[in-house]
Amino acid sequence: MGLPDGFQWGVATSAYQIEGAVGEDGRGPSTWDAFCREPGRVRDGHTGDVACDHYRRWPEDVRLLAGLGVDAYRFSIAWPRVQPTGRGPANPAGLDFYDRLVDALLERGIAPAATLYHWDLPQPLENDGGWMNRDTAYRFAEYAYLAAERLADRVTMWITLNEPVVVTAYGYAFGLYAPGRTLGLAALPTAHHQLLGHGLAVTALRGRGARAVGVTNHYSPARPADPSAPGDRDAADAFDALMNRLFTDPVLLGRLPDLAVQPDDLAAHVRDQDLPVISAPIDFLGVNYYQPTWLRAPAPGAPLPFDMDAAPEGHPVTGMGWPVVPDGLLSLLRALKERYGPALPPLYVTENGCSFPDEPGPDGRVDDDARIEYLDAHIAAVRTAIDEGVDVRGYFVWSLLDNFEWAEGYHPRFGLVHVDYATQRRTPKKSYAWYRDLIAAARTA
Ligand code: FCB
Repeated sequence: MGLPDGFQWGVATSAYQIEGAVGEDGRGPSTWDAFCREPGRVRDGHTGDVACDHYRRWPEDVRLLAGLGVDAYRFSIAWPRVQPTGRGPANPAGLDFYDRLVDALLERGIAPAATLYHWDLPQPLENDGGWMNRDTAYRFAEYAYLAAERLADRVTMWITLNEPVVVTAYGYAFGLYAPGRTLGLAALPTAHHQLLGHGLAVTALRGRGARAVGVTNHYSPARPADPSAPGDRDAADAFDALMNRLFTDPVLLGRLPDLAVQPDDLAAHVRDQDLPVISAPIDFLGVNYYQPTWLRAPAPGAPLPFDMDAAPEGHPVTGMGWPVVPDGLLSLLRALKERYGPALPPLYVTENGCSFPDEPGPDGRVDDDARIEYLDAHIAAVRTAIDEGVDVRGYFVWSLLDNFEWAEGYHPRFGLVHVDYATQRRTPKKSYAWYRDLIAAARTA
């Protein structure tokens, strides 16, 4: 069977990872600006100050998108450009940037897919507690309204949040990402407040005429290290509840999953009308997939109801050390359909990709055959899921460009296009030509 009509091939990026220009046109500081300045937080002290200089070089990047022939481009809007302090009226100069970008995309027939929050929270909001503070949800909805007021007539897809689980786990529980807090399970209110922000934003966006609204989650299928060990199976289920279902059940089912942790941590923060707000209907669910996680029963007295284990032998790994498991994507898509049934909206794979230490050879070419193999296998998994009846409407490669990979700085290279950070020279890799040809072939099939 073929792909459904209108299937969207795309690529994805995010503001802090590519834009640079952190002090330009009235942009305020974000949590990531502050985090990068704390010694030891980001490898080699890298920061997003310059990144891919996309804020100035965006016309060249739009030409690269047009050369690929993508149907859609997923980018993110930097909240601190729109509201430099996270509150108050819009900063028109900040919105101008996205206005021009959206127009340039549309001129080339590329549908703009805008993410409102890809982790760059205005620092003044963090000073008031960030996502631990319920008020941030209301601030987020206000920001969503301002962005839509300017752009909803032209943006094709709106994604409220990117991967709230990573913000909760890496940002507030384990301190690996901004804002670097180490609250452990006491970070759980950040999950609820982000989801509340999502629900309030859905209403705000629709009120300003947004056409399609959804949210993007990070999904890591949970696999017991030893499937015959009941303790490992329970651990896998607990991980799935906390990392996957906690961010999906409230949105699609209007209820919290059973968590194998102290429910007081979370339930105390959920007010009466919150779940109906959070479960406002959405038009699509964004799925980011990189790898499964293997789980073991925790040691007695351990703080979490699972222990993460290494991937079993036999999987190749990417430059991040992440195992390459394309059938994890297939099982994830199947599991979403099975768990949510008629409550599941159409799916978009809003991120999938891999890093390798790509560098140009003596002839100047970047032959990233391992990336081609990775993408090919994962796209095959998406096709199989579609053939089986899962409603997947699009696939976005992470990423268009090599970029600032958070705590790993500029070391990992996820792009279809190589970036030489000393010169900002862009060199399309072999995978760029491969993806371009795949899209062209899919279109004529
Ligand atoms: C995802 C993030 C994205 C990028 C990829 C590699 O979790 O959404 O920004 O860093 O991982």
